[in-house]
Amino acid sequence: MSESILSLENLSKSYQVGEDEQAVLKAINLEIKKGEFISVLGPSGSGKSTLMNIVGLLDEPTAGQYFLSGKKVDHLDESELAGIRNKEIGFIFQQFQLLHRLNALQNVELPLIYTGIAAKERRKRAEEMLIRVGLEEKLRNLPNQLSGGQQQRVAIARALVTEPSILLADEPTGALDQKTGQQIMMLFRELHEEGKTIIMITHDMEVAKNSSRILHILDGELSEVKPS
Ligand SMILES: Nc1ncnc2c1ncn2[C@@H]1O[C@H](COP(=O)(O)OP(=O)(O)O)[C@@H](O)[C@H]1O
Ligand SMILES: [Mg+2]
Repeated sequence: MSESILSLENLSKSYQVGEDEQAVLKAINLEIKKGEFISVLGPSGSGKSTLMNIVGLLDEPTAGQYFLSGKKVDHLDESELAGIRNKEIGFIFQQFQLLHRLNALQNVELPLIYTGIAAKERRKRAEEMLIRVGLEEKLRNLPNQLSGGQQQRVAIARALVTEPSILLADEPTGALDQKTGQQIMMLFRELHEEGKTIIMITHDMEVAKNSSRILHILDGELSEVKPS
């Protein structure tokens, strides 16, 4: 058995909306093992991004427990959270979220600045990662000099450069045309084969099929989709 990397126990999240309490995640239980490629599939408003933000340590649950790499992380203070987030999690978003004044290399180097790695080594690692995602000829292009698919590759390189234990992707193909989306999914499959642990959020079953395990979220409740 490979080791557990992430575990959620009776994890809930609710928001106070006026007088009402709105339950967005309802007592979720989930265990993810190292090297799994998980899809979380669900319609708009089902709680996917809320789950992603909690798993990515950008938000806190209202109740329940969250263990990441064996450490309890559900109620840490902001500086502890930031430290674990930078070390353990690589984020990939639908809208890429690159910094527009920085070129591809500078975007990918950015997360390493906080790790104390020397400038020359940062540059080397960022270059290697951009080559890995197929952008060896675009190292000095600004985001607006790249296609959507290329911008997402820069974002993937940026997420990988710190060697996080988990890659978290929220609708990574949502802003791309179908063919470009498939190319990005090919890259995810390769990363999975290389042993990366990936959690991908999507509302598209065809995209979810690229993963090794599919979970469904509906109205804040999580269930396993059994392989057919
Ligand atoms: N800060 C918030 N305050 C109140 N309700 C929220 C907040 N954030 C999200 N919600 C609600 O939680 C539900 C799930 O949202 P979200 O996680 O963004 O869904 P998805 O990503 O699946 O579309 C929605 O009904 C949304 O309106
Ligand atoms: Mg969302």
